Amino acid sequence: MYADRVLSGMRPTGALHLGHYHGVLKNWVRLQHDHSCLFFAADWHALTTHYETPQTIQQNTWDMVIDWLAAGVDPKLATIFIQSQVLEHAELHLLLSMMMPLSWLERVPTYKDQQAKIKDRDLSTYGFLGYPLLMSSDILIYRAGKVPVGEDQLPHLEFTRETARRFNHFYGREPDFEAKAKAALKKLGNKNAKHFEELRARFQEQGEGEAVAQGRALVAEAQSLSQADRERLTGYLEGTGKTILVEPEALLTEASRMPGLDGQKMSKSYGNAITLREDGASVANKVKRMPTDPARARRTDPGEPTKCPVWALHQVYTDGATRETLCQGCRTASIGCIECKQPVIDGILREQAPMRERAQTYLDNPALVRDIVADGNDKARRLARETMADVREAMGISYR
Ligand code: TRP
Ligand code: SF4
Repeated sequence: MYADRVLSGMRPTGALHLGHYHGVLKNWVRLQHDHSCLFFAADWHALTTHYETPQTIQQNTWDMVIDWLAAGVDPKLATIFIQSQVLEHAELHLLLSMMMPLSWLERVPTYKDQQAKIKDRDLSTYGFLGYPLLMSSDILIYRAGKVPVGEDQLPHLEFTRETARRFNHFYGREPDFEAKAKAALKKLGNKNAKHFEELRARFQEQGEGEAVAQGRALVAEAQSLSQADRERLTGYLEGTGKTILVEPEALLTEASRMPGLDGQKMSKSYGNAITLREDGASVANKVKRMPTDPARARRTDPGEPTKCPVWALHQVYTDGATRETLCQGCRTASIGCIECKQPVIDGILREQAPMRERAQTYLDNPALVRDIVADGNDKARRLARETMADVREAMGISYR
């Protein structure tokens, strides 16, 4: 039931570019058709690094959500929400912080890497150290089975799995679990109870898979047991408690090969990006200014496409036959670079057209976006509250 739940988040750091589209959003759009998907703006995560300049976070969040919708994330299929609007994330983060060894947080590679890299801000804060734990809370609170992330986030996913395991180890059992399991055992009748104990010993001492299968069958066949007693007996048999937090799996998003305007990977920080909804004239202008094979200083000099950053964009935006012709033309100097760039410009504009159109609906009517997000916040909150009820109870602070 939970295994099918997909969750992913993105920090609202500014307009998304075509690298985000090819690397992340296309994948989200695909996933929403056969999974139950939750996508959220990680605005608290943005605050861990931008706490001195929070003024842009709200606008960035709305713009980012419009980018998602423009890319084809469909609010009828996926739940779109904002992290800070589901306060339960903060409660889980706090509760998990109680049992979280400092050393676990300190050894997450991004912690030291980012501190070393980002010199213009002080990142020796409590919040920044807790970044991976907040991310764990985002994931665990929805009992998400699958989390689409890029490779850079894999250590955080592993950290999340360890956190879930640690939590379940401490709190996965009712306080009087043994006594309740023994009472449930009695309900099996003397003969069966004795047999069950034997199977349990065979499994736990010798690891016999057959024994655990027989034990489960015995529980399944017993007529007189309540559902809670069945769960207890299964937990007793297998030596586990009740699973409260689910260990997620990473759905590794293939590294985006989306090249930027200079041939390096497209990235805002390299200044080589085209934004998702960038205006057509600006797209044409940026592509026209792209460097080409330096050997083609003059129009009459032949060039080599594999040494040209424009060629990398052709791999994304033009078909094989077109590339064949252009490649010949470049090597024989029978076409010029301006001519060669045009199909790339056309390809980008063609890709952007439906995105621009979808975005326009929301730009014309911002209330639509607010409604989608309000609706998503409500849905997410409902799911988060279910988990928190179990978490509080497991930790003995449900006051019910
Ligand atoms: N840390 C992620 C990033 O920088 C964003 C994020 C926050 C996230 N919480 C998450 C991603 C939960 C997936 C699941 O990209
Ligand atoms: Fe690059 Fe095309 Fe010019 Fe060749 S013709 S150098 S591939 S832009």
